[in-house]
Amino acid sequence: METKTFDCIILGAGAAGLHCAATAAKRGKSVLVLDHAKQAGKKILISGGGRCNFTNMYTAPDNFLSANPHFCKSALSRYTQWDFIAQVSRYGIAYHEKTLGQLFCDDSAKQIVRMLLDECAEHGARVQLRTNVTDVSFDGQEYQLDTSQGTYNAKSVVVATGGLSMPKLGATAFGFKLAEQFGHSIQPVRAGLVPFTLHDSDKAQFEPLAGTACDVIAASDRASFKEAMLFTHRGVSGPAILQVSSYWQPGESVHINLMPDADAFEALKASKQQQPKMGLKAWLSQHIAKRLVSILLEREKWPQKNLADYSHAELSSIAECLHNWSLKPNGTEGYRTAEVTLGGVNVDEVSSKTMQSKLQPGLYFIGEVLDVTGWLGGYNFQWAWSSAWVCGESV
Ligand code: FDA
Repeated sequence: METKTFDCIILGAGAAGLHCAATAAKRGKSVLVLDHAKQAGKKILISGGGRCNFTNMYTAPDNFLSANPHFCKSALSRYTQWDFIAQVSRYGIAYHEKTLGQLFCDDSAKQIVRMLLDECAEHGARVQLRTNVTDVSFDGQEYQLDTSQGTYNAKSVVVATGGLSMPKLGATAFGFKLAEQFGHSIQPVRAGLVPFTLHDSDKAQFEPLAGTACDVIAASDRASFKEAMLFTHRGVSGPAILQVSSYWQPGESVHINLMPDADAFEALKASKQQQPKMGLKAWLSQHIAKRLVSILLEREKWPQKNLADYSHAELSSIAECLHNWSLKPNGTEGYRTAEVTLGGVNVDEVSSKTMQSKLQPGLYFIGEVLDVTGWLGGYNFQWAWSSAWVCGESV
């Protein structure tokens, strides 16, 4: 007869759930992973443009947002990026650094999912897909899970159902609801690593720029990122914008340094001396994306004259605008396109050493369902691996 009682049932066959399952099974635990999707690791498969940015060489606690920034430290130090890189290497998966420590598969994200499933199979963790969990109860000793495929029992339950981003990939609020059922509080959730939308007037003005990319420093009041910005048909995106979106609050402006590698005032003064007959438009075209120049001139109402005819005060004000161009988003594209969910299960109610609930024995939370959110660049997967491993070692 089919075994229906396990040491541990893990909800969610994503990055964290699969890694935790293999880790616990390696220790001899009987493990069942349940997921409602038809396929395991769907987000891994589409991540990094199909090549999965599976970690970042420079992962450190500072790369994460949480109401309690200390919470992630223990797990990140016990299972590091180098531990996961060693596993990827053991499986012979070739990878490369794209930029800023971001490691991608040379070939395909499918290799990462294959590796995680092979690890589960090798150590006897069972992965069961197409299973809807309808009820989870605890009788003081054991958990009982009622599902579309029958009832299962376990001493511990690990919630690895992720956040709300990309509902079409199977994201649900299940983990948050289950946490609340067992008395946990949820830090307010919102979309992170997400493009901004613009107010109608800005959108109409910037629409001709769709597809234009420029290197900038994008800053909110709390953080700044030097990377590319991309104009889209609906607003702005690109790594610099996605990063800053996680720190942005509705109603705030984003400050964009359009000349991050130069001192615009010094450069304008030097050009005024050396090429006094050069027009401002020609000068700007040498320093920022050409398609942005006309729109900037119109928007900022800068007079079009030769550099010689500008006073130092005028040049200083132009330079200030180039270094601190202000853009006020209307909102974000939301969970439809967001890479992550900010907020989540309150980490003050969870042990940072084991990921076990401090309120409910035998209940664990790992990965994105927790209020720990990484920057763009492989940090979110590293959090999934690290939190999963410490849980798998303890469960
Ligand atoms: P994850 O979302 O991976 O898994 C949750 C699992 O739970 C899913 O399999 C889901 O089907 C299942 N589930 C949900 N509700 C359920 C329910 N009610 N019943 C049963 N099962 C349920 N990060 C990074 O570091 N590098 C990158 O390159 C990218 N790229 C990227 C691209 C895109 C398009 C997205 C949307 C996200 C990324 N990310 C990323 C973020 C990264 O994918 C994310 O942080 C991790 O997948 C989180 O891992 P988890 O295991 O916590 O959740």
